[in-house]
Amino acid sequence: MIVVKTAAEIEKMRRIGRIVAQAHRLVEESIVPGITTEELDEKVARFFEEQGVKGAFLGYEGYPKNICTSVNEEVVHGIPGPRRLVEGDIVGIDIGASLDGYFADMARTLPVGEISDEARRLLQVTEEALYKGIEKAVPGGRLSDISHAIQTHVEAAGFSVVREFVGHGVGRAMHEAPQVPNFGPPGRGPRLRQGMTLAIEPMVNMKGPEVVVLEDGWTVVTRDAGLSAHFEHSVAITSDGPLIVTTLED
Ligand code: MF3
Ligand code: CO
Repeated sequence: MIVVKTAAEIEKMRRIGRIVAQAHRLVEESIVPGITTEELDEKVARFFEEQGVKGAFLGYEGYPKNICTSVNEEVVHGIPGPRRLVEGDIVGIDIGASLDGYFADMARTLPVGEISDEARRLLQVTEEALYKGIEKAVPGGRLSDISHAIQTHVEAAGFSVVREFVGHGVGRAMHEAPQVPNFGPPGRGPRLRQGMTLAIEPMVNMKGPEVVVLEDGWTVVTRDAGLSAHFEHSVAITSDGPLIVTTLED
């Protein structure tokens, strides 16, 4: 069942959400051609330690690193390693952590140096789709209104939405009910209520929607090797509308 949070619980999510957003800023400031994805992972691990927070990914179902780094045709769950980023790459950075029993989860896809116009448009459309979904996270709406808004924006731009991986409830755990697909008709699923907290996370492919999981058991790639982007925020549904908890702002 969907756990509804109190205002005090949402405040706790905002505290960890801010730290996760700060970790993203640290990665953004660090990304230059030549850096390895493992170096980015280590920076975030040190930052978590300094902040006294617990990374949510390390050890999750055996996941071996602190963050996910998904390069180019990698969709999500890329494992940091010795790969050096090069000018023109795009890299999805996914970071989650907990503090005092509350979790926040956030992802964004960053350019490495100058990228192609098509890649830049993919990043822009995917981030816009996230915000189109967030706009629908209001009391009285239905869960699939979020899904539909995302799919509509992505497909109008000529891109495709991944089906096999979806967003999720977040808060007392990294993954809670309900699942939040990035596709579907509007007006279906649970009624949205004040206090629900959702991780909304479109995964968008430049070409076809199909994905494959690599032999490492984690890395998800596009079947046609087209580029893929991923943006995610943890969001609370409040009487004033959607409140993004994974933000640097107060
Ligand atoms: N942030 C991802 C999600 O939204 C989780 C990463 S998988 C992990 O589901 F194993 F790295 F934790
Ligand atoms: Co997530």
